[in-house]
Amino acid sequence: MAYVDIRNLTVKYDDVEALSDFSIDLNRDDLLAVLGPSGSGKSTLLHAISGLIPIVSGEITISGRQLDKLPPGKRHIAMVFQDGALFPHLSVQANIELPLKAGKIPKARRKEHVHRIAKLLELETLLGRRPNQISGGEQRRVAMARALIKRPDIFLLDEPLASLDPWLRHKMGQELVELHDRLNVPIIHVTHDQAEALGLGTRIAIINKGRIQQIGSPDDVYDRPKNTFVATFVGHPPMNLLSPSALSPEEMNLLFPHGRRPSSVDVLLGFRPEDVRVEEGRGFVLQMRQVQGHEQIAVFTAQGKRITARLKRGKPLQQGKTYDLSVPHGPVHVFDANTGNRMGNISP
Ligand SMILES: Nc1ncnc2c1ncn2[C@@H]1O[C@H](COP(=O)(O)OP(=O)(O)O)[C@@H](O)[C@H]1O
Ligand SMILES: [Mg+2]
Repeated sequence: MAYVDIRNLTVKYDDVEALSDFSIDLNRDDLLAVLGPSGSGKSTLLHAISGLIPIVSGEITISGRQLDKLPPGKRHIAMVFQDGALFPHLSVQANIELPLKAGKIPKARRKEHVHRIAKLLELETLLGRRPNQISGGEQRRVAMARALIKRPDIFLLDEPLASLDPWLRHKMGQELVELHDRLNVPIIHVTHDQAEALGLGTRIAIINKGRIQQIGSPDDVYDRPKNTFVATFVGHPPMNLLSPSALSPEEMNLLFPHGRRPSSVDVLLGFRPEDVRVEEGRGFVLQMRQVQGHEQIAVFTAQGKRITARLKRGKPLQQGKTYDLSVPHGPVHVFDANTGNRMGNISP
C-alpha cells in the first residue's frame, strides 16, 4: 500500500458538494502540488485530511494508520492554513515552539529547534516580536516555521507562499523543495498559482469544482492535458483553442502546414502561444502587445478568432498591422468539442 492512500473522499457543506470522489496515492518522496482556481475545493481537501471538517464518505490512510475516524490531534499532521493564524498575545518564538511545548520537549531542545527553523526562514531577528509587529508575509513565514518544526507524517500547506514578495516566494519555494528532500515525508502543497505548482511539485493534481481533472508530472499536465480545463488553466498565457469550423480552408492551410488536419470538425484544436510563428502577411491583425521580461505576448484577431503568441521581445511587431500566423512544429492538441476531453495530437 502507498504511504498515503486517500480513497473516494466526498465532503459536503450543507447540500453543496465541495469535494467529490477524490482519490490519490502518495509516496514518502512526493511533493504533490494541488492546483485549482479559487473555490475548487483545495482548502476543503486539506481540512478533510486534518480532520477539521467531517467527510461524507471515503477513507484516509497514512503510514498504515487509518485516520478518518481519529480526532485531529491524533492524526500526526502538520498544516499551514491559508490565513496563517498566529496567537496574537505570544511572541514569534513562542508561536513557533508551541507544537513542541505541547509535545513536552525540554526547553533547551525547543530553543535549538526554534533557532534552526528561524534561520531557515530568516526569522532570527523577529523572534522577540508579536504578530502585530511584523508584516503579513513575515506572519506567513512564522506560521510555516511553526508547522515545519514538528516532524509529522505529512505536511499540508494551504497557499503558504501566496502573500510573500516574489523573490521571497521563489526562495521559500526552493527551501521547501530542499526541506522536503531532508524530511522524508510527503507534502501536499495547495496553490492557485500554476507557475508555483509546476515549479515545486514532483506531481501535480489539478482540481476544478471539487473533482480531480488530472494527476501527473509537470510535463504530463503541460504536454498532455486531459481536457480543455487543464489545457487552458496550465500555461501562461493560456493555450489557444480554435474550432476548425471557424477556419476557411486557406486559413487552415496557413495555420497548420504540412497537411495537419483533424479527422472531424466536432473538435477544438489547441496550441500553445510559444508554438505560434508570426510572419509578415494579411491574415490576422495585431490587437495588443505586452512586454514580459525577455518576451512579448501578442494577441491577434481575425473575424471573431483570437490567437495569442509568445515571442522573443526582439521580434518587431506593430499594433494594427496584419500578420500571418502558423503552428509549424509544436503539437496541436485535439479535444472533443462537446465533452472537452482530450482525443490526441495531430503530428506535423
Ligand atoms: N464553511 C463553508 N460553508 C459552506 N461552504 C463552504 C465552506 N467552506 C468552503 N465552502 C465552499 O466550498 C467550495 C470549496 O471551497 P474551498 O475548499 O475553500 O476552495 P479553495 O480552497 O479551492 O478556494 C467553495 O464553493 C466554497 O464556497
Ligand atoms: Mg483555499
